[in-house]
Amino acid sequence: MSGKHFDKAAAGWDQKQRRVELAAKIAAAISSTLPLNKNMRALEYGCGTGLVGLALAPKLSTLTAVDTSTGMLAELARKIESEKISNVTPLRLDLLQESLEDKFDLIFCAMTLHHIKEADQLLARFCDLLKDGAYLAVADLKEEDGSFHDAEADGVMHHGFNPEYLVTTLAGLGLTQVSVKEVHSIIKTNEAGASRAYPVILVTGKKG
Ligand SMILES: C[S@@+](CC[C@H](N)C(=O)[O-])C[C@H]1O[C@@H](n2cnc3c(N)ncnc32)[C@H](O)[C@@H]1O
Repeated sequence: MSGKHFDKAAAGWDQKQRRVELAAKIAAAISSTLPLNKNMRALEYGCGTGLVGLALAPKLSTLTAVDTSTGMLAELARKIESEKISNVTPLRLDLLQESLEDKFDLIFCAMTLHHIKEADQLLARFCDLLKDGAYLAVADLKEEDGSFHDAEADGVMHHGFNPEYLVTTLAGLGLTQVSVKEVHSIIKTNEAGASRAYPVILVTGKKG
């Protein structure tokens, strides 16, 4: 999907119950896997409308919510204003093109890595931006046969990820305590009425 696609989809993004349910599962899994606390300065990459980030923000000190879609960020800003949230800051940024002069106690990224062609470069950028002792959490589709997205969807760079690839890559980048688990299964029904499940995995690790 292109940035424009996400801009157009932003206003109706939260209306798909499947997305809301998935985000809640990912947020709960991050929360139960990592020792979140109110001193943590966190960054979310590919925050969308904030479905995951706003669920975690009350457990954190601050959250910098990054995305490249102005439409998605506008939806998030609207929620921040209407819900009077004081510790979440939306930021338009492409980490593979621009620098960020900051380090974080936690970086998380949900359902975004499969949109990034240079996934391994982005994972390396995340690791650079972690303080010593900080945590990384990446949730995405487990590798699938390409049937998850509609045929006309653009911007889909990976048909999910092999869990072993993610574990090996993060360990190779120097993270410790790297582990992966299935946190949800998205059920999709095709035009012929057949349902199938697409597992979602969460990989986590610690710097140092
Ligand atoms: C499938 S949505 C997931 C949104 C949100 N994390 C959630 O779980 O509801 C993918 C998000 O990644 C963002 N995105 C795509 N390419 C990106 C990039 N290169 N850098 C940052 N964000 C990107 C899109 O704008 C979109 O908001």
